[in-house]
Amino acid sequence: MRLLVTGGAGFIGSNFVRLTGRVRPDTHITVLDAFTYAANEASVADAPCDVIRGDVADPGVLDEILAGFGPDDAIVHFAAESHNDNSIASPGQFVHTNITGTFEILEAARRHDVRLHHVSTDEVYGDLPLGTPEAFTEDTAYRPSSPYSASKASADMLVRAWIRTYGLRATLSNCSNNYGPRQHVEKFIPRQITTLIDGGRPRLYGSGENVRDWIHVDDHNAAVWEILERGRMGETYLIGADGQASNREIVRELCLLCDRDPDEVDFVTDRPGHDRRYAIDATKLRRELGWAPEHTDLRSGLADTVEWYRENREWWEPVKAAVEAKYAEVEEVL
Ligand code: NAD
Ligand code: DAU
Repeated sequence: MRLLVTGGAGFIGSNFVRLTGRVRPDTHITVLDAFTYAANEASVADAPCDVIRGDVADPGVLDEILAGFGPDDAIVHFAAESHNDNSIASPGQFVHTNITGTFEILEAARRHDVRLHHVSTDEVYGDLPLGTPEAFTEDTAYRPSSPYSASKASADMLVRAWIRTYGLRATLSNCSNNYGPRQHVEKFIPRQITTLIDGGRPRLYGSGENVRDWIHVDDHNAAVWEILERGRMGETYLIGADGQASNREIVRELCLLCDRDPDEVDFVTDRPGHDRRYAIDATKLRRELGWAPEHTDLRSGLADTVEWYRENREWWEPVKAAVEAKYAEVEEVL
């Protein structure tokens, strides 16, 4: 089987390529990645794939790659601008990559009659109140809050329209917050881990009470494989591992794992429009495809992640200072 993996030099895509090398070693992977600031050469340098540098919104490069694809081959579309804070500061690139990029992927999949799996986010459903048992399902109405989530919601709508109107062979998945190795240090968990490793204080937006539903990146990617192989065409599957925790709770665990006082944290300027809580009901995926997460102990998953950042300083150190300088432009300690 041949796979085109877009965004394969980013966090989830590069872990997908590595997982595929372990569990489906006969798959031939071509990564297409624009190598934006979010990519890391080291994430694909020793990965089992060919790598092409290019924009998903460029139909020419898509035609070149897909010319050799047959009816059993597929595209797994991870490429995106993925960070909410960046989308608030400058939304234009999110419209280009996430909306126009997905449009060009859809048109290329249609021209070459290639099956597509579109990777999306639970943020398209907006947020949930704190302290209630509600969770998102495949039937929850779309209600995105940020320019990032609105651009992903737009992309999902395009995919659904191409399925219905053109009969495109495609599936979608909407996953909750991922953690694990090779996540950019702008994101919450790697930012706090690398700050703690460097002796600094973790930074919590607002009250720190916002809740995210954490899943290990390998569990997300294992679910993507289940959907690719056995998912029903045209369907959407929610992916989540019952990993709800407040940001304050996550920081407390990280401090303890780094032998630091959990009360030594800074509360800083809140994110505008900050979603309060996400939670996934993954019943459809579990029942229909028999998927279940392997990393069910969040504390031990976080411990492994801390260890990875300790052992791979050369992977993140070159960009850490610039990321913190950018945050310093907008953050004030409350
Ligand atoms: P990431 O920012 O780590 O990686 C994105 C990759 O896409 C980077 O390698 C980047 O260079 C590449 N890219 C950006 N613009 C491109 C373009 N125009 N053409 C080609 N490549 C381009 O993101 P991630 O966290 O790995 O997320 C991957 C996908 O999963 C995204 O679609 C995101 O919306 C979705 N998702 C992420 C999470 C999460 O918790 N991180 C959860 C659910 C869904
Ligand atoms: O839910 C899935 C989404 O999860 C994905 O679609 C996005 O691509 C991914 O970035 C992530 O979005 P979030 O906005 O939830 O992730 P982020 O890591 O930016 O922040 C997680 C939470 O932590 C959020 O409530 C904001 C908060 N936060 C973040 C940073 C960077 C802090 O309190 N302090 C911080 O320094």
